[in-house]
Amino acid sequence: MIHSVLNAPIKLGNHTLNNRIVLPPLTRQRSAQPGDIATALMAEYYRQRASAGFMISEGTQIEPRGQGYAWTPGIYTPAQIDGWRTVTDAVHAEGAVIFAQLWHVGRVSHNALQPDGAAPVAPSAIAAQQAKAFIATGPGTGELVQPPVPRALSVLEIEELVGHYAQAARNALDAGFDGVEIHAANGYLVNQFISAHANQRDDEYGGSLHNRLRFLREIVEAVSAVVGPQRLGVRFSPLFSGTQQERVYIGLVEDDPHHTYIEAIKVLEASGVAYVSIAEADWDNAPDLPDTFREAVRSAFSGRIIYAGRYTAGRGARLVEAGLADLIAFGRPFIANPDLPQRLFNGWPLNPLRAEGLYGGTQAGYTDYPAYAE
Ligand SMILES: Cc1cc2nc3c(=O)[nH]c(=O)nc-3n(C[C@H](O)[C@H](O)[C@H](O)COP(=O)(O)O)c2cc1C
Repeated sequence: MIHSVLNAPIKLGNHTLNNRIVLPPLTRQRSAQPGDIATALMAEYYRQRASAGFMISEGTQIEPRGQGYAWTPGIYTPAQIDGWRTVTDAVHAEGAVIFAQLWHVGRVSHNALQPDGAAPVAPSAIAAQQAKAFIATGPGTGELVQPPVPRALSVLEIEELVGHYAQAARNALDAGFDGVEIHAANGYLVNQFISAHANQRDDEYGGSLHNRLRFLREIVEAVSAVVGPQRLGVRFSPLFSGTQQERVYIGLVEDDPHHTYIEAIKVLEASGVAYVSIAEADWDNAPDLPDTFREAVRSAFSGRIIYAGRYTAGRGARLVEAGLADLIAFGRPFIANPDLPQRLFNGWPLNPLRAEGLYGGTQAGYTDYPAYAE
C-alpha cells in the first residue's frame, strides 16, 4: 500500500470518512431536459466513484438565474429534488458521503439562460471579460458565448438570494445529501461579491473587505441555520500568480489574495464550518500556492482543509504529511478513473482523460471509463 497517509480514515463533521481522497465538484452538463433534472445515468456515474472518502456533487444551481451553462442540474424544483435522490441513494448504497455544491453563477451567464431573457444578475453592472457562458443551440448542441453586462442586484434582492441559498440547502437535505458546499470560487456570484473589481457597490455589500464578505457571511449563517455547521463546507479559489489574463479567466484577481482569503476563512471559522475547500490554479505550469498562505489557512481554521488542482498522490500525500491539508481532491483523474482511490493506493496506472464527452453528451466519456483490471 503506497501513499497510505491518503488511505487513512478521518472525521469530517459527523462522518468518519474511509480515506482522504475527494471527488471535487465537476460540471458534466447531463441533466434531463426540460427541467435540469439529475438522471439515472448521473446516478451511475457517481456510484462508480463512490470509493472516494468524500464526494461533492457538480455545481447545482439554486435558482433559475443561477445557471450559466446549458444542462447543468438544479436543486429548486420538486422534480430536481427527486432526481437528486436517485444519485444520493446510489452512492449511499455504496457507503459513501456526498454533499451538494450550491451554485449561482451571477454574471457568468447569458440572456438565453435567464428567465424571460433578462440580463444576468451580479453585484455591479460590470461584465465578465474573460469567462464564457454556454448556451444550447439544439438538443445536445451548444456554444460558448460572451456574458453580457449584468444587472446590479438591489439590497432586497440580495436578501432574497440569501434565502434561496437556505432553501436550496433544505432541498439538498430532502434529496438525501449529507450536507452542502457553498461555491464561492472560480469567479461566480459569491466570488464576484468578494472581488473589489466585480463588486463596486457603495452600500453595505461593497467597498471595504468587511462589506464585500457580507454576502458570504449572510449565506454561511443562513445555510448553517438550516443544515448545521457540521454539514457545511465552502469552496474558494485564491489566485496568487499566473498571468493577469489567466487569473482573470479562472477567477477574479484580488489585489491582496492572502489577506482577502484569510479574512474569508475567518468567516467560516466563526461559524464552525466543517471544511474549507481550496481550488488552486489548475492550468498547465500553474504556480503552486505560497506555503505561507497554506500555513496561514491552517492557523486560521480549525475545520478540515481540502486542496485540489493538478495533484498527484505523491504531492497530495506530502501536503497531508506536512500537516497542511486533510483531504486531497482529484478532478480530471477521477473523471477518467472511476476507481481512482484503489489505483492510487496500489500504484496502478491511470486511464488518460479523453476530450470526448467532458461537457455534455451521454455515457461516452462519462460512465464508460473502465476500472482497473489486474
Ligand atoms: C470538467 C470540469 C468541471 C468542473 N466543474 C466544477 C464545478 O462545477 N464546481 C467547481 O467548484 N469546480 C469545478 N471544476 C474544478 C475542479 O473541481 C477542480 O478544482 C479542478 O479540476 C482541478 O483539479 P484537477 O487538476 O485534479 O483536475 C471543474 C473542473 C473540470 C475539469
